[in-house]
Amino acid sequence: MIRYSALLAATALMGLAGAAPASAQQGELVLYCSVDESWCRVMSEAFQRETGINVLMTRRSSGETYAQVKAEEGQPRGDVWWGGTGDPHLQAAEEGLTTAYESPRLSELQDWAVRQAETAGNRTVGIYAGALGYGYNKDLVAQKGGEAPGCWADLLDERFRDDVQVANPNSSGTAYTMLATLVQLMGEEEAFEYMKKLHLNVSQYTQSGSAPVRAAATGETAIGIVFMHDAVTQAVSGAPITVVAPCEGTGYEVGSMSLIEGGPNPDNAKIFYDWALSPEAQALGAQANSFQVPSNKAAPTPEESPDLESVKLIDYDFAKYGSAEERSRLLAKWDAEVGSLPK
Ligand code: F6P
Repeated sequence: MIRYSALLAATALMGLAGAAPASAQQGELVLYCSVDESWCRVMSEAFQRETGINVLMTRRSSGETYAQVKAEEGQPRGDVWWGGTGDPHLQAAEEGLTTAYESPRLSELQDWAVRQAETAGNRTVGIYAGALGYGYNKDLVAQKGGEAPGCWADLLDERFRDDVQVANPNSSGTAYTMLATLVQLMGEEEAFEYMKKLHLNVSQYTQSGSAPVRAAATGETAIGIVFMHDAVTQAVSGAPITVVAPCEGTGYEVGSMSLIEGGPNPDNAKIFYDWALSPEAQALGAQANSFQVPSNKAAPTPEESPDLESVKLIDYDFAKYGSAEERSRLLAKWDAEVGSLPK
C-alpha cells in the first residue's frame, strides 16, 4: 500500500472542463486509487491543482480496496474509489457499499461504460477498458528455444517451469479477471485443471496485477500474465517485452469508479467524479504511461493502446462474475484448489 498526500499549492489553473476555480473549493477528498501508482499521482495532483481540494490518496489493488471498503462499512473513511477492475466495484455496489450517482457526463461515455453503470444501478461507472493477455521477455524466451508463446496453452509448457508470474486473484483484479476469463473460455472444470497445471510454472503470485510484467521487463521472470496495456507500458519504456493477445481468445476489464456510501466529503466526491469522466482528465493516463482505452468518447485513445478490435474478446459476463456470490465462490475455490497446492 502506498499513501500519498498531494500537497500542492492551490495556485493557478483552470483548464480542465467541469472543474471549478481553485478559490471556489476547499476541504479534502479521500481517494482510494487502484490503477498504477504513477497514474494515481498524476490524477491526484491535477485535480488538486484544478480545484484547490486537498487530495489524500491511497493506492491499493482492486481486491484489496474492495476489502478495505467492506471493512470500513458503516464508518467509511474514503470518498471515491477510482480505478481498478470492474468486478469488485460491482460486488461493492451489490452490497450497498457504494452510492448511486448519475453524472451529467454519462451521455458522453462509450456504451460499455454506461452498461457498467446500468448493471450496478448507477453505483459504479466505466472509466476505461483493457484486454487481458501476457507479456514475455523475448531475450529469455529466445534463450529457451522453441516457438514463441502466443496462446494460453503455451504457458503450460515445461520450458516455463517457475518462469511465469501472475497476481493472486484475491488481492488483484487482473488475476480475478484471468480466473473469470478462463472459466468463461474453457468451462469451470477445465479452467481449474488449467490453473492447477499453470501453478507448476508460476514462481510467485504477486499482490498487484501489473507486477508480473515489471518482473519480466527486468528479467526476473520470462512471462507475466497481465492486462495487455501494462505489457505495452514496459515495451515503450524500452524493455524487451513482447505483448501477447492469447490465440484462444481472452477477457477484458471495464475499469470503474464508485462513490463510497457515507464517505466524509460527499460534495467533493461528486466534483471529482464528474471531472474524472471529462475527456481532459481521461487524457492524463497517457502522461503516466497508462494505455487503457478511455471511456469518454471525446478522450483520445493513446496510439500505444492495444487495438481491442483486433483482439479476440469473449463476451465477458460482468453481471455474473461481478456478483458477490460468484466472485466469493470462485475466489474460495481458487484458494482451496490452486493457491494452496504445494509446488
Ligand atoms: O493500472 C493498471 C491496471 O492494470 C488497470 O488497468 C487495472 O484496472 C488495475 O491495474 C488492476 O490492478 P490490480 O490487478 O492490482 O487490482
